Amino acid sequence: MPLQVLTMIRHLFLVGNMASGKSTVGQALAQRLNRPFYDTDRWIESQQAKSIAEIFAQDGELAFRRLETLALHTIAQDKSPWVVATGGGMVLNPEHRQLMRQHGWMVYLKADPEALVERIHDPRTRPLLANAVSPQEALRQLAQAREPLYQESDWVIDTEGWNVEAVVEELSALTCPSPESPICISVLPNTPSAYEVLIAPRLRDHIAERALEVYQPTKVALLTHPVLRSWAEPIARQFELAGIPTTLLLSPEGERYKTLSRVQKLYTQLLKAGIDRSGLVVVLGGGVLGDVGGFVSATYLRGVPFIQIPTTLLAQVDSSVGGKVGVDLPEGKNLVGAFYQPKRVLIDPELLQTLPPRHWRNGLAEMLKYGITLQHGLWRRLEVMLQLGSLRKREPTLWTLPIARCVQLKAQIVSEDERDLTGRRALLNFGHTVGHAVEAVLGYRGWLHGEAISAGMVAEAHIGVKLGITPPDTLEALIDLLQQAGLPTSLPEVSVESLTEAMRHDKKRKGDQIGMVLLEGVGRACFIEAVPMEAVREVLLACGARS
Ligand SMILES: NC(=O)c1ccc[n+]([C@@H]2O[C@H](COP(=O)([O-])OP(=O)(O)OC[C@H]3O[C@@H](n4cnc5c(N)ncnc54)[C@H](O)[C@@H]3O)[C@@H](O)[C@H]2O)c1
Repeated sequence: MPLQVLTMIRHLFLVGNMASGKSTVGQALAQRLNRPFYDTDRWIESQQAKSIAEIFAQDGELAFRRLETLALHTIAQDKSPWVVATGGGMVLNPEHRQLMRQHGWMVYLKADPEALVERIHDPRTRPLLANAVSPQEALRQLAQAREPLYQESDWVIDTEGWNVEAVVEELSALTCPSPESPICISVLPNTPSAYEVLIAPRLRDHIAERALEVYQPTKVALLTHPVLRSWAEPIARQFELAGIPTTLLLSPEGERYKTLSRVQKLYTQLLKAGIDRSGLVVVLGGGVLGDVGGFVSATYLRGVPFIQIPTTLLAQVDSSVGGKVGVDLPEGKNLVGAFYQPKRVLIDPELLQTLPPRHWRNGLAEMLKYGITLQHGLWRRLEVMLQLGSLRKREPTLWTLPIARCVQLKAQIVSEDERDLTGRRALLNFGHTVGHAVEAVLGYRGWLHGEAISAGMVAEAHIGVKLGITPPDTLEALIDLLQQAGLPTSLPEVSVESLTEAMRHDKKRKGDQIGMVLLEGVGRACFIEAVPMEAVREVLLACGARS
């Protein structure tokens, strides 16, 4: 039986280098959240009745690390949620990192080594610096060596130039997000298209209020699916209560309706509802409706503002952010579209309560893609969540932070490369070259997008191994976790020819070569411009397609 996941993952562990502010911030946060505070170094000192420096000098570093393990086990047994400041070297032991992940969320307080050096007034009080010829240099090297381990956290807060209050504010929203104090992520900051993604359970009760903060329309068209009516009607009422006439537009569900003919029908419905350029389109739905509704908003009357309220895991972690909107053609996916950013994205993970299990797995495929291409910490988090059975239990609030982490990663990439021009945004397409071809060959039926991406990721990881770019153990780790998630790891029995034919319409195909994202390891990917189609064909065959 899986353990009670919500009670398992409950503490907040602050990790980071010495002098990064873990104790100060931790104490203030604990006070703010009305939670007990625990400092592993102070606990060890009080248990041993000696200072850390004395333990290092008399018993050695190894003995100290064992005491850290004991401290973590003690915290793990406590049923109430704590705020925990950990010693700088706590992350060195993989068992510690795993314990922290199983029993709580890890947040890294990041500070530049130069800033740390300035904050440490007396290096002799720090055992690892005391005997160094240059404490500054020793600290720099320590920070550099530990950085990848700290980066395995669920969240990273850059403390440079911040005051304690601001860090506590961010941590408080991360730990207990609420409609009043949601997790807030900026997309394309300091540009004319800048907007925010707000994430919190029960945000659905504050949609009109949060929408009207950024745009005051004369009328609203709320676009959704019949199956989401019970979520949509209270939202429509919020706008009506705010004095804004609102029309509910119901559109059929499914990828086969991501078409130009559906777009045309929606234009007509918007005209009938009297939406002009002072109106607002609110899209409540998954990735399909987000893409279609966004495209309609981008083109109707040469553009009306829109807001996304994503209701599938896939749409919450991926499609609602970044402004890629569009529809499919019979020849291929997303062949007609635009870059058109929403005014805001409002994410309530509790909307996922009604999402069928298969669609949870579908979204998880995209989350695993973020982890394996961009962020080791996210990958490890998802690994633990699967081990703890949290996919089966599907407690939406438990997914809030991992969802936010994906949004943050996407926001960062989109902000660096909004229009997919530098190759940075292309990293988000790992698994999609093969995955999109699978979807097209199957006629967008039978397999969901995430399922096609899952098999596509395995095929593309195989290609990476074949070209000597992807380490074989990365491929194994990928297959293992996808299988644990119940996602497909081999291709459907369609012909290799049909798949490569579908890739002919891929925007990254040039003759007998194709551009593709390949893995360099867990959490690292690169874009390779010229993958030979011959290698692709061989791998497709080996991954389950027929000759
Ligand atoms: N624009 C982008 O950047 C981007 C990124 C990734 C994927 N996509 C696109 O997203 C699409 C896939 O999106 P999707 O997987 O969300 O599929 P989807 O929009 O078809 O939704 C899946 C199904 O779940 C139902 N549903 C949605 N929310 C529900 C809820 N809360 N409770 C119960 N049922 C619910 C829908 O009615 C639908 O039947 C693909 O077309 C893909 O190309 C776009």
